[in-house]
Amino acid sequence: MTNPPTTTALITGGAGFIGSHLAERLLAQGCRVVAVDDLSTGNEANVAHLPRDRFTLVRSAVVDAMDELRAKQFDEIYHLAAGVGVDLVLERPLEVIEGSLRNAVALLEAARTWGRGGRVCPILMASSSEVYGKSARVPFREDDDVVYGPTTMTRWSYAYAKGMDEFVALSYHARHQLPVVLARFFNTVGPRQSGSWGMVLPRFVRAALRGEPLRIFGEGTQQRCFCDVRDVVSVLPALLRNPACRGGVFNVGSSHLLSIRQLAETVIQVLGSTSRLELVPYDRAYGPGFEDVAVRQPDLTRLETATGFEPTITIMQTIRDLAASMESVGANRASASASPAGPGGV
Ligand SMILES: NC(=O)c1ccc[n+]([C@@H]2O[C@H](COP(=O)([O-])OP(=O)(O)OC[C@H]3O[C@@H](n4cnc5c(N)ncnc54)[C@H](O)[C@@H]3O)[C@@H](O)[C@H]2O)c1
Repeated sequence: MTNPPTTTALITGGAGFIGSHLAERLLAQGCRVVAVDDLSTGNEANVAHLPRDRFTLVRSAVVDAMDELRAKQFDEIYHLAAGVGVDLVLERPLEVIEGSLRNAVALLEAARTWGRGGRVCPILMASSSEVYGKSARVPFREDDDVVYGPTTMTRWSYAYAKGMDEFVALSYHARHQLPVVLARFFNTVGPRQSGSWGMVLPRFVRAALRGEPLRIFGEGTQQRCFCDVRDVVSVLPALLRNPACRGGVFNVGSSHLLSIRQLAETVIQVLGSTSRLELVPYDRAYGPGFEDVAVRQPDLTRLETATGFEPTITIMQTIRDLAASMESVGANRASASASPAGPGGV
């Protein structure tokens, strides 16, 4: 009797925050994983610990690696690569908008023939709660109307871009019966997350560890739902592998609301920090006319019904683990700089 072939998964953005955790999850299930990442916001260190016999990192932009990837034949594709973070969107909107659509079309087209023997390959695409825009109807349900600000406000470009990706993916499903699933991630947090492009929890944790002020944009009354990345990635394979989910859009996250001020206070308390809170007006943080969303909360009925999903990791645990991951990166850097540099060292 022959063993069933091992599942081979492609993760675009696989050296990023969510992608690297998904790689760990799939490897733990016995899969082989190929990650493609241009390391624009991702980091090779995120995947340095993964077993080289079953994990491969292709260091490239998605569209430049198509020939190399085509030859590998996949059982499933997780498309997570994107320009992520408010700061990045405000700084480089063209790359975010154009790159998002170009990558989506390239991968959807590829998925039609990248399965074993040239067959179709199921694909999960990462979308975002930003797609709901500033809708005031909470909790957000997948079929709700969306409400955006004007196109003169760059911050909405990410929402439009992710929405266009969804339109294209659903059109591939309708026209070509492509097995595609759309996952609208809400605030995803956890170890290895970087604050470089404006993500709130890593910024708070880093400031608390250094005893610096935790800078809250606006009044801190805006509410969000934070879900640990390890919970988020646990449900993605189940979503993609369930034929009933294909052609569907799913909110993915936690529905537990927390104001940004509460989040900051929790970080200080959990880490026993001496930091204080500092309120920063939006126009000082992001420039004039920045619009924030007051409450962002998913309705998870569809996801729970399809997969039985239930988040298990508390925000306190996430804060502790994120702090530990930052401290270990700091410790590694310190020991690297303390060690002798090159052949002249002792
Ligand atoms: N983290 C969240 O809270 C959140 C919320 C909503 C949606 N998302 C979505 O989840 C996905 C993953 O986000 P993340 O938080 O892990 O961010 P991340 O920045 O850590 O991951 C994105 C990865 O994609 C890579 N990348 C970007 N453009 C690329 C390209 N053209 N070719 C190859 N690699 C490229 C980056 O280097 C990075 O490693 C994104 O699609 C994002 O829009 C994340």
